[in-house]
Amino acid sequence: MGRRMKRILIVYDTKGGSTWEIIGWIRDGAISQGASVDIKSVREVDNLDYDLIVTGSPIYGEQPMGSIINFLTRDDLTNKNIALFVVCFAGVFGLRNFMVRRYLDEMRSICKGHVVSMTSFDAATGPWRKLNREICYDYGREIAGAPVRRPKVVGTA
Ligand SMILES: Cc1cc2nc3c(=O)[nH]c(=O)nc-3n(C[C@H](O)[C@H](O)[C@H](O)COP(=O)(O)O)c2cc1C
Repeated sequence: MGRRMKRILIVYDTKGGSTWEIIGWIRDGAISQGASVDIKSVREVDNLDYDLIVTGSPIYGEQPMGSIINFLTRDDLTNKNIALFVVCFAGVFGLRNFMVRRYLDEMRSICKGHVVSMTSFDAATGPWRKLNREICYDYGREIAGAPVRRPKVVGTA
């Protein structure tokens, strides 16, 4: 019996375009696993009939964008599977875990849907761009149902 194609919607907002670039890589990864992917700016979302709704926001002034917060409070997200991500600079100076968790917890707490995963990406600029592309592509594969490939982390307490 063949698996039905997983239908994924990616909803985003952006000011500078880096979130848009990241979403392109996520889409490529998901498509490589046979998913179908629609990408909509938060202002153009109409249909919510998808297996998974990935919702991503950059962080400005310690906050996810208001447009994304509004979207997450929509009543018609009830019972929908939602994957949340943020894009931000919080990776520097070891603040990542603490700050990123704060941003994501805020999004989850107001989300009317069923949050199935949360993650973060760095701004896709400078020397990190190439590595970012691989990370985002892998995330795309993962949300489409591919087995997770994580490097083993050694030496952490
Ligand atoms: C004015 C400004 C404020 C920002 N504030 C934060 C912040 O509070 N925390 C953070 O981690 N990143 C912050 N960033 C970094 C952005 O989240 C990052 O550049 C992101 O990639 C922007 O996404 P976009 O290009 O899709 O708009 C800020 C960037 C700018 C330009």
